[in-house]
Amino acid sequence: MGQKQKLELTWIGKENRPRLEPRVLLEDPEKSCHAAERIGENDIFDNRLIFGDNLLALKALEQEFAGKVKCVFIDPPYNTGSAFSHYDDGLEHSIWLSLMRDRLELIRRLLADDGSLWITIDDNEVHYLKVLCDEVLGRSNFVASLAWHKRVSPANDAKFFSGDFDHILVFARNKEVWRPNRLARNESQLGNYRNPDGDARGAWNSSAYTCAKTADERPNLYYPIKNPFSGQEVWPSRTRVWAYDRSSHERNVQQGLLYWGKDGTARMPRIKKFETETRPVVPRSIWEYEEAGHNQESKLENEKLFPGVSFSTPKPERLLKRVLEVASVPGDLVLDSFAGSGTTGAVAQKMGRRWIMVELGEHCHTHIIPRLQKVIDGKDSGGITEALKWKGGGGFRYYRLAPSLLERDRFGMVIISKQYNATMLAEAMCKLMGFRYEPSDSVYWQHGKSTETDFIFVTTQTLSVE
Ligand SMILES: C[S@@+](CC[C@H](N)C(=O)[O-])C[C@H]1O[C@@H](n2cnc3c(N)ncnc32)[C@H](O)[C@@H]1O
Repeated sequence: MGQKQKLELTWIGKENRPRLEPRVLLEDPEKSCHAAERIGENDIFDNRLIFGDNLLALKALEQEFAGKVKCVFIDPPYNTGSAFSHYDDGLEHSIWLSLMRDRLELIRRLLADDGSLWITIDDNEVHYLKVLCDEVLGRSNFVASLAWHKRVSPANDAKFFSGDFDHILVFARNKEVWRPNRLARNESQLGNYRNPDGDARGAWNSSAYTCAKTADERPNLYYPIKNPFSGQEVWPSRTRVWAYDRSSHERNVQQGLLYWGKDGTARMPRIKKFETETRPVVPRSIWEYEEAGHNQESKLENEKLFPGVSFSTPKPERLLKRVLEVASVPGDLVLDSFAGSGTTGAVAQKMGRRWIMVELGEHCHTHIIPRLQKVIDGKDSGGITEALKWKGGGGFRYYRLAPSLLERDRFGMVIISKQYNATMLAEAMCKLMGFRYEPSDSVYWQHGKSTETDFIFVTTQTLSVE
């Protein structure tokens, strides 16, 4: 009695954890891409595209980026059992869980204390994934499970239900610290503002002048006011009194905030609220396609970018725009380690966020690089380009993962991989030993630094006393 039981998800193979070598990232300048000239003040050039398995890539990023990523957005394979043209989506449930757990643990280390993680997922795995995230990120850091309305018309061929929405799980790295940004009001919210009386202060909407209190509860709110058009005294009902006391009412009158209807004959006034005074709104947990886009839209965006060879499961740019609006500000670092066709990077680039993307499939070369090249050159007119008046600019560096530092020779002995040259070796040893690779220009034995006073020297020569 009284003993707390630890509840956790179990699966076959949960205890097996990969031993990861922090690999070096090798830049290939041929595949990197930069705008020919600066276009804006805040152009960002040092974004990163990494080709390779995200487990190794996330590990490779750990040393430099731990605690620095403001927003991680991932759209992993949903494990639906489908075979898409660019990747397979049908792992054994337990293997999928291990795969996600290992990556989530690294992602958590990369997140800034005021950062957040966003995962799109459908009914197949969402409930397991939620519990898994509770385990990795802490149940107390769960923020919301949003519903993104991804489908415009129902799938009438569905056997059970038309799957009309995806979940977006949102976790904070530290919920005590993280807060979502508020959103600018949308057109339909702004559409409620009109100006039927030609008020010089601009469009307004109105709300009731009474409140749900009785005269017995709030006697100071039960008093007569004057209709300036008819000159008559007007009383509220005893069961629903004015929302303002006498002095606030006088101020409202002086400021011309009362509206008595078009010809001044309304029985009760309403109070005006001006559009110019509206505050941004809190994000809601249902994301309608009118604002966050839908799957048909992302297909069209992708077909426009890659006629005839579009990616099978892209997300719409408007969805990513909304995620980044809520979870980041310009200049923040955004990471997507299941990049697909590169929507996150394209949107981040257009929104002035720094980004890192990882993709394992060949579409890293056939889709992501050309897409981002177009974005940088100002030649992608689709997605959110027009809404943001994006003109191009900035760039990214392309990296691949270095091979493992160690290999076995034909006698089974562990040796340093022959693919490593002296520079790669120095960089890899710095990484393994927790030093920052920063070869000195003047002192040959300083390859990397750990603190102000410690240096590392990597050599394959025999060391002398000196
Ligand atoms: C659903 S798609 C992402 C689509 C993307 N949000 C977009 O808008 O195009 C998932 C992607 O994750 C990639 N992926 C799966 N396992 C991976 C791994 N271990 N490392 C890197 N990428 C991986 C797949 O190749 C696929 O491109």
